[in-house]
Amino acid sequence: MHFKITDAITWVGKIDWELRKFHGEEYSTHRGSTYNSYLVRDEKIALIDTVWLKFSREFVDNLKQVVPFENIDYIIANHAEPDHSGALPELMRAIPDTPVYCTANGLKSFKGYYHKDWDFRVIKSGDTLDLGSRKLVFVEAPMLHWPDTMFCYLTQDNVLFSNDAFGQHLASEYMFNDLVDQAELYQECIKYYANILTPFSALVSKKIQDVLALNLPVDMICPSHGVIWRTDPLQIVKKYQQWAADYQENQISIVYDSMWDSTRHMAEAIARGIIDADPSVAVKLYNIARSDKNDVITEIFKSKAVLVGSSTINRGILYEVGGLLEMIKGLGFKNKKAAGFGSYGWSGESVKIITESLKASGFEVVNDGIRETWNPDQNGIDRCAAFGKAFVAALSKKGD
Ligand code: FEO
Repeated sequence: MHFKITDAITWVGKIDWELRKFHGEEYSTHRGSTYNSYLVRDEKIALIDTVWLKFSREFVDNLKQVVPFENIDYIIANHAEPDHSGALPELMRAIPDTPVYCTANGLKSFKGYYHKDWDFRVIKSGDTLDLGSRKLVFVEAPMLHWPDTMFCYLTQDNVLFSNDAFGQHLASEYMFNDLVDQAELYQECIKYYANILTPFSALVSKKIQDVLALNLPVDMICPSHGVIWRTDPLQIVKKYQQWAADYQENQISIVYDSMWDSTRHMAEAIARGIIDADPSVAVKLYNIARSDKNDVITEIFKSKAVLVGSSTINRGILYEVGGLLEMIKGLGFKNKKAAGFGSYGWSGESVKIITESLKASGFEVVNDGIRETWNPDQNGIDRCAAFGKAFVAALSKKGD
């Protein structure tokens, strides 16, 4: 499969309809994904990125239908992660002398993955590659989201090849932003940002400023996953600017796990207290053991505050809650308030453990949380509802 994007650019990637987990088991992809590879034809021909290893044979066979391999002059490797470089070894067996353009960090990563001495050409931001009437302009984009990442920009067509940035895990036959379901597209974009780019938000803001300062016209953004932004392409750039600025909505997420429903009863009572205090706030409850972790992370990303609950078990917390706290720690959310809660029978350490973890992860913990013994009776439920109300009050009191 291939299709024309402009007279000069042809998409030669792979739509992966079956993908349901990405990065091993770390990222859920309910709607599949795509690995976008682009062929740019001028007097010279450049191939930008490839696809995941498991599709390398298919990729190479497909590419052969589009261009004789001996006509490919350059390979542009924007990112070494194997979902984009996986087919390089197969391709390079056919055209071993073709130069591969990448960053200095890319060189380290490619050598680390593939142990080959291909004809690497290391670029720096601002370097260009003449294709004839068009040029490729390279822009290093370290930590968006790996050290090696770079973008490239095609003059004349005014197309930014942004690699993972501005991408989404969304498989579609339509492949352009104006042709797909807009709600699905938005959901996959924000999920991608929340789960992958949150730790690098300061760098995202800076890189967007740098690229916009170049004053290059942008008619299209071609990411390495999902649809191509051809209608109002800067809409996703504006969204990234918002998301990178410690984004939050008027939402509170309550995330918990519960052995015998006692902590669930607490969660539901806290939610009622929150709504009683502020009916305008969106309250969302998730049993983390029964929810998709990446979807919950997306909801936390959207939240101004988070409540995390667990029963106490063996002087600790339930492991699904522990896993969530570990994910949260790595993502480094900012500008969010939080507290813990949980039920216990005799030792009752869970709330303290959750509270400490939230503090260590950069949340502003507004109080010491709430504990209830066994299954809370009506008095306990009332205390939880009052805790919810007090939590809302604490948010507005400390709100900045
Ligand atoms: Fe889509 Fe960082 O690879």
